[in-house]
Amino acid sequence: MKKKLIIGNWKLNPATLGEAKRLAAKIDPKPRHTAVLCPPALFLSQVEYPRLGAQDCFWMSKGPYTGQVSPLQLKDLKIKYCLVGHSEKRLTGEDDGQVNEKIKALIAYGITPVLCVGYGTTVEQDDFAVIDILRHQLGMGLAEVEPAKVVVAYEPVWAISSGNPYATKKVATPEHAETIAIFIKTKFNVDKVIYGGSTNAQNTKGFLEQNNIDGVLPGGASLLPDEFNEMINIKL
Ligand code: PGA
Repeated sequence: MKKKLIIGNWKLNPATLGEAKRLAAKIDPKPRHTAVLCPPALFLSQVEYPRLGAQDCFWMSKGPYTGQVSPLQLKDLKIKYCLVGHSEKRLTGEDDGQVNEKIKALIAYGITPVLCVGYGTTVEQDDFAVIDILRHQLGMGLAEVEPAKVVVAYEPVWAISSGNPYATKKVATPEHAETIAIFIKTKFNVDKVIYGGSTNAQNTKGFLEQNNIDGVLPGGASLLPDEFNEMINIKL
């Protein structure tokens, strides 16, 4: 069986360190697939799990940069993965040039960047328009980067937190996500593409069964231990 990569993005949850520790302690430490937990940065040094990821980082390693978290600090905490370019960060002004700087910095410190693309896509767009957006985000995000060192997460922004990745018949099915994953792999020489946007214990199997979808990036479902444990142990 091919092991898939399942990254739980806790976003700005939970509210306290105690809750974060209790949540992590409920997640199966030896699941069937490769599971990564991404708690808020503030809790990264305290939460225990075999593989931890960060939700974001800055591109400089130290200096006068108020409020930032550096890849050097993440490396010190043995963080293995870091999300970059999540739609919720892009919404607050992060651009493709900054995303590219972050990816280069993370690779320099041996941390795998998880480049999130799909921000700017809409339900109404045809495939051609979606591909155009992805081409732009990937072209800029991966400039001067060895693509094999990056995991790409395709997340149509309208599917995130919607509770239903099948919101429209056309765009968010596992089969359609597979065609996007093939596009990303063939055009940008990326080895691993995962899918995100309201994935849960019910719908994840369909995505993981696709040959070119190497995992999923659940947000809401990663805060529910039973649900997440089911996802990271799905039989394929
Ligand atoms: P969701 O979040 O699973 O809650 O839609 C996914 C994400 O934003 O990465």
